[in-house]
Parts: sequence; structure tokens; C-alpha cells
Amino acid sequence: MLDSQNDLDDFIRGLPKAELHMHIEGSLEPELMFRLAARNGVKLPYRSVEEVKAAYDFDSLQSFLDLYYMAAGVLIRREDFAALTEAYFDRLAEDGGVYAEIFFDPQTHTARGVSMETALGGVLDGIAAAEQRHGIKSKVIICCLRHLGEAEGLRMLSEAEPFLDRIVGLGLDSSERDFPPADFKRLFTAARAQGLRLVAHAGEEGPAAFVRDALDVLAVERVDHGIRAIDDPELIERLTKNGTTLTVCPLSNVRLRTVKALHEHPLRRLFEAGVKVTINSDDPAYFGGYLHENYRATAKALDLTKAELAEIAANSFRGAFLPDEEKEAWVARIEDYARRHQG
Ligand code: HPA
Ligand code: ZN
Repeated sequence: MLDSQNDLDDFIRGLPKAELHMHIEGSLEPELMFRLAARNGVKLPYRSVEEVKAAYDFDSLQSFLDLYYMAAGVLIRREDFAALTEAYFDRLAEDGGVYAEIFFDPQTHTARGVSMETALGGVLDGIAAAEQRHGIKSKVIICCLRHLGEAEGLRMLSEAEPFLDRIVGLGLDSSERDFPPADFKRLFTAARAQGLRLVAHAGEEGPAAFVRDALDVLAVERVDHGIRAIDDPELIERLTKNGTTLTVCPLSNVRLRTVKALHEHPLRRLFEAGVKVTINSDDPAYFGGYLHENYRATAKALDLTKAELAEIAANSFRGAFLPDEEKEAWVARIEDYARRHQG
């Protein structure tokens, strides 16, 4: 038993993986949160790392977001953003991640007086350091906070304009239920005209209809979460037929109670229906695990075989914003790896 668990652990760690759904602010570990709070003179409503961790008992997306935005307030200097980003890539390297497209929420910082240049500049410094240190390449997707509305999103896009050569795409995150994708049509149309690739969170807490709207109204290329598609057989068929990637975050879904338990997670049913699902960590510091732990726990709970895990890892490259030759090279490496490590 133990042997087979170690064997699966090793298999997952060695499997080349891309992470396509991870909010960099959600990789802020409590230890770094306290260090930066002390350094920057920011007062936190907790006295210790243990007290913070005890607060990670969420009952909804909003209960998490309240804490997540508060904690991001410790990030002030460019070096803070760089340290945060480097720490994430150190963990990704340990987990056998080889490529990432990371989400970054400019408005979380500009709204409290930290400039786009400071915040994004620090993230890009961290990305450059990680590439030097680990050879991991990555790209940035800026996300619009949907609870602030479309006009604020358009303002963010225009503030990002000088940096667009270093940003691959636009996403949509934050509180989903009261802020449907269809409200952001002008923003997504404008971003597409600027050459950005498009993704959006939909069908995390919101209904399958939001996944449809993200595709029909916003013309997104990938859907983040998208798990409520499980309620709509026609939508599942459409996702399968079009090869649309879903960036699924299993541990997040359990922690935010959008799925009751990991063994009931719709990922297996979506996968079996032919949907291109991927496995990601979302906000790893808050939801109990980074990329490897998401793969491991999901494999165990849903009985995913090595061949199935390899297919899911291959999906993470097929769905990436990379040139076709690079995607094909990674998929070929995964197929070779799976052949050598079957049984
Ligand atoms: N959903 C929406 N917004 C977010 C999330 C999430 O899971 N994580 C960080 N911002
Ligand atoms: Zn997310």
C-alpha cells in the first residue's frame, strides 16, 4: 500500500506539468504574510501564523475572498511581489511543474495606491529569477475583479497598456454569482482587439449558463473552473466537441464547498465525457496544496490511473498559450514518460 502510494507520488512528480490556474496573490504563505506585514508596518487582524491558518475555514467563495484581499495588503514594494512570485516558482519546481500561466489581479493593488508598475514589475522580476533558477518559463494573465464592474475593468486595461507586451491574456475573477460574464462583453472585446488571449472564471459557484455566456458572449478560449458544466449535458457535448480546456482546481472546490467531497468531484465524469480537463491549485497557500498535492489527492479520490494522469497533464500543455510546436514537444515528452513508467 505504502509502496504504491510512493510510486504514484514519484510518477506525478516526474510527470511534466503546466499550471494554468493559479492566482499569484493566492500563493502568499502565512509566514511571508507576517514577514512583509512587519517589514511594511501593515497591521494584520491575527497575532500568529497559527491564528491565520485557523481562519482558513471557508464556507463560500466570498468568505475566502475577504481574507485573500485583506492579506494582499502586505504587498507594498516591488521586492515583495518578486519574493512572492519566486516562492511560488520554487514550489512549482519541487512539484515537477515546468511551465505556468499565472493570474495577477492589478486592481487589488492599484486600488490601495500600489502602482501597476511596482506590482506587475515585481511579479515579472520574480518570473525572471525563476527562469534563471529553475528553467521554468511562464506568462502573466491579468484578471479583472468582477465585483468592481466593467468600467473599472476597462480602466485597468488602459493602465496595463504600456505593459501589454509582457501580458499574455485577460481573465475574470472574484465574486461570481452576482456578476455574470455577460456584463463584461465590452472589456473582453477591447482586450481581444489589443491582442490578449481570453479566459474567465465561470461555473465555479455560478451556474452552467455562466459557462455558456463566457464562451458565447466573451469568446473565451479556456474556462476557469467550469465544473457546473456537469449539470448541462448539451454543454458538456459542446466543450468536448470544441476541445475547450477547463482549468479545474479540485482542492479549491472542496475548500470553498462548491463540491462536497473530493471523491464526488465532477472532474472524472467530465474527463470520461471527453472534456479537456486540467488540474491546478488556484490559491495554493489557502487551499491545502500546490500542484502536486492537487494531482495526488485527486488521483487518490477519483482513482485516476497513471495513463489518465498523463492525459490530464498533456491537456495542460494542449490548453496553454504556447506555440503549437512547443505544445507538441511537451505532449510527446509526456507520452514517452508515461510509456516508460506504466505498470
Ligand atoms: N474564484 C474567483 N476569484 C478568485 C479565486 C477563485 O477561486 N481565487 C482568487 N480569486
Ligand atoms: Zn481561480
